[in-house]
Amino acid sequence: MSPAQFLADYWQKRPLLIRGAMPNFSDLLTPDELAGLAMQEGVSARLVLERGGRRPWQLEHGPFSEERLTALPKSHWSLLVSNVEQWLESGALILDKFSFVPHWRADDLMVSFAPTGGSVGPHVDSYDVFLLQGMGSRRWQIAEQGDRTLLSGVDLKILKKFQPEAEWVLEPGDMLYLPPGVAHYGVASADCMTYSIGFRAPAQRDLLEDFYNLPKNLMDLVTTDQMYSDPDLTLQLNPGEITQSALVRVEDMLRAPLAHNDLLGRWFGAHVTRLPGASKEPSRRRMPAESKLNDLLKSDRKVWRSDRSRFAFFAPAGATIYFYVDGDELAVPQALKPLLEVLCATRCNPGRALAAALPRGKAREQALLMLRQMLAHGSLYIG
Ligand code: SIN
Ligand code: CO
Repeated sequence: MSPAQFLADYWQKRPLLIRGAMPNFSDLLTPDELAGLAMQEGVSARLVLERGGRRPWQLEHGPFSEERLTALPKSHWSLLVSNVEQWLESGALILDKFSFVPHWRADDLMVSFAPTGGSVGPHVDSYDVFLLQGMGSRRWQIAEQGDRTLLSGVDLKILKKFQPEAEWVLEPGDMLYLPPGVAHYGVASADCMTYSIGFRAPAQRDLLEDFYNLPKNLMDLVTTDQMYSDPDLTLQLNPGEITQSALVRVEDMLRAPLAHNDLLGRWFGAHVTRLPGASKEPSRRRMPAESKLNDLLKSDRKVWRSDRSRFAFFAPAGATIYFYVDGDELAVPQALKPLLEVLCATRCNPGRALAAALPRGKAREQALLMLRQMLAHGSLYIG
């Protein structure tokens, strides 16, 4: 199936089972290596114990000690590690296979291990997910309809009643796509690893809160010294009332930024690439010398986009393109577009490929400086 057909018929619409989605898929890491990751500080790991905890469906957060992990029961638990792409280059490259969806919609690669009988219970997620089967096998049951009441008194959002409408046993390399809102329940039929390629979608609440807090540079694009004005004011019955006609005038003033296309795109570029919760740490790297960058650009050495960075560009009609990295905006001339396209679309580029995308003339200096700054910032790094 072509990506275009998948988007037209399934994306955000209905589940799809894809047998042999990745033929001969072999696990990116062993269960022991996954456990090793779950022991590291800074790695987001969770343990779900359906049985064998102090209560059913107990949730524990990592990092975990070796004692904790070796003391786990024989069955009915799952170990889940999120953002595996940040720790494993092969994990990051798996995410690239899903580039038929814009990168700003992509969230992370989560890898889980469960012994026979292990699951995280029947539940509903609010995001799209591709569930790729690694070692072992897992029986997935799904339900698009049905009661969504949750079990009370447990750590997780588990459905109280789950009536499967379809089920499949996934073998290594098989994959199940689920749009948001489809209830699903995957039980390991044998020691099992599952790779969840998860997406994100901005919440209206966050969009509104951020949009009406426009930064000054964007605010200046639309604001004038105009004040609320009402030369058409008519006598109203009660001076205390806020009338519909007053609200129409207010709405006109509030609408100005929405009607300004460049502003909307530029605000959204910064909004959607901003890293969650992060007050940015200043980089301790030094800017590479020009000569060092020139050597790199003549070589096959790999330049990686950081798996912790978010890149996007916005190209409105006109001479300027806006490039976003982790919420920061850089305005660049059209001549840099091929370079931005390569940087944004491909996670890992040999130096020569970047060189081939460089503009000539004056813009070249700007492009080289931008690459040096990105290497210093760590949003690009040399493999
Ligand atoms: C799992 O890997 O066990 C759970 C994945 C999911 O249900 O989203
Ligand atoms: Co789920």
